[in-house]
Amino acid sequence: MNPITPYCLFVGCFWLAIFGGTATHELEENDEHPHKWEMLYLVHQWPVTVCKMNEHDCKEDPLLYWTIHGLWPDKAEDCNRTWHFNLSELQDLMGDMKKYWPDVLHPNHTFFWKHEWEKHGTCAAMLESLNSEEKYFSKALELYKRIDLNSYLLKVGITPGSTSYQLAAIRDALIDAYGVTPKIQCLPGEEGHIQIIGQMKFCITKEFTLRNCTEPKTDPSPAPEDHFYHTEDLEICNDTLTYYPSHLHE
Ligand SMILES: *[C@@H]1O[C@H](CO)[C@@H](O)[C@H](O)[C@H]1NC(C)=O
Ligand SMILES: *[C@@H]1O[C@H](CO)[C@@H](O)[C@H](O)[C@H]1NC(C)=O
Ligand SMILES: *[C@@H]1O[C@H](CO)[C@@H](O)[C@H](O)[C@H]1NC(C)=O
Ligand SMILES: *[C@@H]1O[C@H](CO)[C@@H](O)[C@H](O)[C@H]1NC(C)=O
Ligand SMILES: *[C@@H]1O[C@H](CO)[C@@H](O)[C@H](O)[C@H]1NC(C)=O
Repeated sequence: MNPITPYCLFVGCFWLAIFGGTATHELEENDEHPHKWEMLYLVHQWPVTVCKMNEHDCKEDPLLYWTIHGLWPDKAEDCNRTWHFNLSELQDLMGDMKKYWPDVLHPNHTFFWKHEWEKHGTCAAMLESLNSEEKYFSKALELYKRIDLNSYLLKVGITPGSTSYQLAAIRDALIDAYGVTPKIQCLPGEEGHIQIIGQMKFCITKEFTLRNCTEPKTDPSPAPEDHFYHTEDLEICNDTLTYYPSHLHE
């Protein structure tokens, strides 16, 4: 894909959304709901790093492409405990779900998807365009395909292996492609080892266009986390060398 394409797709639409005027929509959304949120994170995870963080659970060779961790509203979790996960509703999406949104540690993906729906999907469902399981999961798959991170990184020569990259090089490549900077999270290096890239969170408006993530300084409320994979060990990457591993052990 031409790197400009996703930029136009998202940033073009971003400005349209701003000037097209969605103010009334915004006003209606807020205040009436106890679980209000402003934007979504489309969280990509690097399965090799997830495996490193969960060595006891990691049975097979990890996948070598970025997979979906989740589509998470900021500032809201577990919004509707009576809206139970129903696997049958994902029947039509099953091929894509297993490929792009697998549980990277366990052979049965159902618990992972159930967890993502109950913790994040029931909050996302406040938007009409996400108010069913099928809409929620299929929108995440659609955004993931539009961002097409794996193809883009390969194309610009940022590939996993034994070499490392400066974080700035990765970030600049992402700005070139998408016009925005995702939050990039790393597993801190231990004892002189360098940090390891683990997750990328792309920030997405309620109109499903990419936006820059709010800087931590101006946003006092912590972003939601999801500890299904012990990702509490991840931190925002430092501006230094970053390892993008293709193997669990080198
Ligand atoms: C919560 O989920 C139940 C069951 O699906 C649904 O009937 C109800 O409208 C939902 N409540 C909200 C606030 O979305
Ligand atoms: C689960 O979804 C299927 C397919 O949409 C539907 O037929 C079934 O009634 C649902 N089950 C429950 C318990 O809601
Ligand atoms: C996965 O786990 C769920 C929940 O226990 C179960 O209903 C389902 O049959 C399992 N799927 C497979 C393929 O084993
Ligand atoms: C996002 O931030 C980057 C770097 O600060 C900037 O170059 C870019 O124009 C911003 N994009 C948008 C859509 O605001
Ligand atoms: C970034 O650097 C600080 C200070 O040296 C350190 O405490 C932190 O763990 C580092 N983060 C990562 C992701 O390596």
